[in-house]
Amino acid sequence: MQESGRIVSTPNTERIVSANRIDVDIESADVTLRPKRLSEYIGQRSVTDNLKIFIDAAVSRGDALDHVLFYGPPGLGKTTLAGIIASELGVDLRITSGPAIERAGDLAALLTNLNDNDVLFIDEIHRLHRSAEEILYSAMEDYEIDMIVGKGPSARSYRIDLKKFTLIGATTRAGNLSAPLRDRFGIISKFELYNPSELAEIIRRSAKLLGTEIDADSLMELAGRSRGTPRVANRLLKRVRDFAQVKGDGHISMAVTEDALTSLAIDKMGLEGLDRDILRLIIEKFGGGPVGIDTIAAAIGEERVTIEDVYEPYLMQAGFLHRTKQGRVASHDAWLHLGMTPPPDAGGQMTFIGESGDGELGGEDGAE
Ligand code: ADE
Repeated sequence: MQESGRIVSTPNTERIVSANRIDVDIESADVTLRPKRLSEYIGQRSVTDNLKIFIDAAVSRGDALDHVLFYGPPGLGKTTLAGIIASELGVDLRITSGPAIERAGDLAALLTNLNDNDVLFIDEIHRLHRSAEEILYSAMEDYEIDMIVGKGPSARSYRIDLKKFTLIGATTRAGNLSAPLRDRFGIISKFELYNPSELAEIIRRSAKLLGTEIDADSLMELAGRSRGTPRVANRLLKRVRDFAQVKGDGHISMAVTEDALTSLAIDKMGLEGLDRDILRLIIEKFGGGPVGIDTIAAAIGEERVTIEDVYEPYLMQAGFLHRTKQGRVASHDAWLHLGMTPPPDAGGQMTFIGESGDGELGGEDGAE
């Protein structure tokens, strides 16, 4: 049994909050921190409880698991769970991503190399090129693909039979998936931000794997500042471990934790510089909002999708930001958090939309 395939990912500079996995993490610590079995996976119980039943049923039938779509903000363990599914099924896992598949032929090569019941994981599946997406329809439904070779009058179509396989697609923007693709997934699961006690459990497990001692207080402090995201929790743990090693005796105490988080400019609520920049912009330049997302993106110098997918879900969950039909609005608590006095109507009386901020299946809001 093989547990994982090659990981294709986008290089990125090191940031605590980031849309992308970081190559160094994948190659080193993250691999060892990732749980390999369902019993080790913490949280997302509404996803994993059902999955366990579907996996057990597929294994007992000796059949492929139905195709699975995972959606929700980045860093919540979608890739990790795909690896676990392959392990539990006792099959190989191939990992790729929508943008990495440049031509239909790239996807055809991946599909034709799969063995019976194997798992193909496509991250950022909403960014798959149209030509590749069209190949997936018949691959998912009938386990066959039609490839056109050549151009013009000499073009020929070849049908290629595939082994029965499971496609696991992951996306931060389920609303951007075309209906024909979405409809071909038999299992659709939404990932939620983690609560502090789940994050504390994840950090405790990771610290043990890294061989680092950590106080109960520090565990809770890190959990509370990890913005509901295991990827952030594990990165914070590694950075605080560096401080403990260089400035102390290697033990993660509350003093070291506070010192490290202050140096990393991560505040009590887990907000980092860019989170505060977004709130400050809305408050100082637009009187608390509403302000359109494209205006925020231009002023902050970040891409709109990064603000929507990476920053907003936590700002909304923490109660600092609302998405309304008129635009983004800073809440009463956001003013207070930044040390400013909110006007009496801060937070506004507007029609709130998409508070979950995770590219709901119903489609993206066009709040501009
Ligand atoms: N590491 C990242 N996500 C995790 C999870 N949900 N459970 C355990 N370890 C994790």
